[in-house]
Parts: sequence; C-alpha cells; structure tokens
Amino acid sequence: MLAGKRILLIIGGGIAAYKALELIRLFSKAGASVVPVLTRAGEQFVTPLSVSALAGARVHQELFDLTAEAEMGHIQLSRAADLVVVAPATADLLGKMATGRADDLASTLLMATDKRVLVAPAMNVRMWQHPAMRRNMALLAGDGVAVVGPDAGEMACGEFGPGRMAEPPAIVAAVEAMLGAGPLAGRHVLVTSGPTHEPIDPVRFIANRSSGAQGTALAAALRDLGARVTFVTGPATVPPPVGVAVVRVETAREMLGAVEAALPADAAVMAAAVADWRVANAGAQKMKKDGSGRAPALEFAENPDILARVSQGANRPKLVIGFAAETEKVVEHATAKRARKGCDWIVANDVSPETGIMGGSENAVVLISAEGAEVWPRMGKDAVARQLAERIAGALA
Ligand code: C5P
Repeated sequence: MLAGKRILLIIGGGIAAYKALELIRLFSKAGASVVPVLTRAGEQFVTPLSVSALAGARVHQELFDLTAEAEMGHIQLSRAADLVVVAPATADLLGKMATGRADDLASTLLMATDKRVLVAPAMNVRMWQHPAMRRNMALLAGDGVAVVGPDAGEMACGEFGPGRMAEPPAIVAAVEAMLGAGPLAGRHVLVTSGPTHEPIDPVRFIANRSSGAQGTALAAALRDLGARVTFVTGPATVPPPVGVAVVRVETAREMLGAVEAALPADAAVMAAAVADWRVANAGAQKMKKDGSGRAPALEFAENPDILARVSQGANRPKLVIGFAAETEKVVEHATAKRARKGCDWIVANDVSPETGIMGGSENAVVLISAEGAEVWPRMGKDAVARQLAERIAGALA
C-alpha cells in the first residue's frame, strides 16, 4: 500500500507510454498521489489531458514555464516527491541521466532531485543490448538508480527479446519495495543461479547449458517485492540483477560455501544447475597429449547436494524451494526429488531440447508441493519468476 505517498512520474516518449496511464491508475488505487511530468516525446504517445485527468493533477511539461515556476519551482517539484519514477524510460532519457544532461524539465528534475529514482526501461531489443546502453545502465546502477524490467517478449517493433517495459503491477511492486512496503519487506531470501564450472585442469572445465535467466528473474522479482536478496551465482551468461547482493562462485563446492555463509534466510530458492560430479583427478597443469593416442582417464567424485544440505541442515529456512530440470516423466521424477531432498516445493520443468526452455526466455513449469502437482501454463521466465515470488510472499506471510 502506498497511502499518502507522492510519486513524481516522468513519462518518456515510447510506445509503452500508454501503459503509464494504467500505472497512474494503479498508483492512485494503492493510495499514492501522482505528480505527472510529460516529455516532449511522451506527448507524441499520450495526451496531457488523459494524463492529468487520470492523475487528478496538472501535468508538468516545460522547464521555462512561468506559471508553474510561480506555483512550485522545478527544484521544489523534484524534492516534494517520495520517489521519482521514469516510465517508460527511453534510451534517450537514460542516456541523459547517465551523462548528467539537464536540457528539459524531465532531465532537470532528475538532476535536481534528492529522492531515489526508479526507471522502467522500454526500447527495442538491439538498443537495450547496445554497448552504449550497457555502459549507461552500469553508470546508473553505480549512481544508485533502481531498475524494474525490461521484460523479454514480443515487441511493438516486431522483434523479440528484452526491451518491453515492465508491466504496471511490477512497477507498483518495485515502488512499494523501495518505499519499504512490499510483502517481502524485512525478509531475507537466498537464490542460487546459473551453472557451475568444474575444472578438468587450469584451462578446461565441465559446464552445462544453464544461462542463469530463471534464477536472475527470480532474484529480481523477489527484490521487487521488498526482499533482501542474496544471489549466489555460477558463471551465468545473463548479468545479475541490480539491487541484490551478488556472490560469484565457480564450482559446486564454492557454491555450497557461499550458501552456508549467507544463511540464515527466510527462504532459499535453488535455481542453479549444479554439476552432480566434479573431476576428482583434475590436473594442476594443463593436460597434454602424450603422442600415444590414448585419451586421459577422468575420474569423478560426487559433488555435495546443496539443496539437500540446506533442506536438512540446522539453519533450514522456513521455505526451501528446488528446481528439477527433467527430460522425461517430469512430475514423477520431481515428486521423488522433493521427498529425497527434503525441500518444500520443487519447480519442475521439461528441458528436452525441443522445448527450447534451457537457455530460452520461456518456461513451462509444474509446481510440486505437499498438496500435489500444479501445472502452470507456458510463459516468460519473468512471469514465472513473478508468480513464484508472489507465492513465496504468501507462504512467508
Ligand atoms: O538432483 P538434481 O540436480 O536434479 O536437483 C536439482 C535441484 O537441486 C536444483 O534446485 C539444484 O539447484 C539443486 N542441486 C543442488 N546441489 C547439487 C545438485 C542439485 O543444490 N549438487
């Protein structure tokens, strides 16, 4: 709930600006008042009239506006809010923020504010992935700017990938979390993610195809509900989310150490694809061909089962969740796994190559709990993460 909170909402110029109208409605429903600012480009997508009618407040547009300055100067405007939200945050607006430009009302307010800023990026997937954008986002993260989204999916421009603005309920949840009002405020949640790398020698390792996408989305969704998240990640291809404590590891044994060091936690979600085996006779030097034509014999040792240890350990979180990546008899295997490891829930999925799930942006899961198996429809990994985060919040309430 956001009763009595005042949000300065900057609406940038992107096709997602239409979602800003729904956002205003949700903020109002949650009890917040919205002070809207519409950029020149934003005005091309939504009208000042619809924005001010929904917000029940005048919309601010110009930096050099005598009437507005007489009523409330732009410096004051930037300070009177509890939080500044930029949605949609276009590549242009984010670039201005990263480089400290202040050449219109929105960018000037963003420079002048003494409050936290939350941005909801929205742009074409190539723009989002452009090295300049990556640099700008890294700078903004360093400045303490919070980010919600973007989601991956079909885009208005016809392309597919990350770049869609986060849905308005996720933005409201992120605002609630930042203002200490999310359902997981005050809770500590541990998330493991990504693959592990098990060395063969100093230059070679055994790995798996996990991208870390589902674990990363989960950590972000839990953060958005207000949780303090410790994110223990193997060498993933997806970058970790901002606003969580990141602990980077390589091997399963390092992951176990990092997990044990992060406890106690209210909940633990083990989304990492941990190697079951490590090379017992890993070479201290690079293995060489000896010219005999004989391949080296690798010996394997079993890795510790982190999920089982946490589930059965003295420091057991109230809720322990495991994942089960299966290629056949998904429910049967996952149900057995839940019992064997002693966790509360298993999120099971079919990772047969034809599903495109491993390394892809979608997931189709079955949630196995004491109550049985619940089949979720196929959806984006972000959506799976949000639903699961809400379930976790419900279970810890
Ligand atoms: O046994 P399996 O690897 O299928 O179990 C998958 C679940 O167990 C995942 O939640 C994974 O993160 C966890 N796991 C673990 N440590 C291992 C192996 C799996 O925590 N060594």
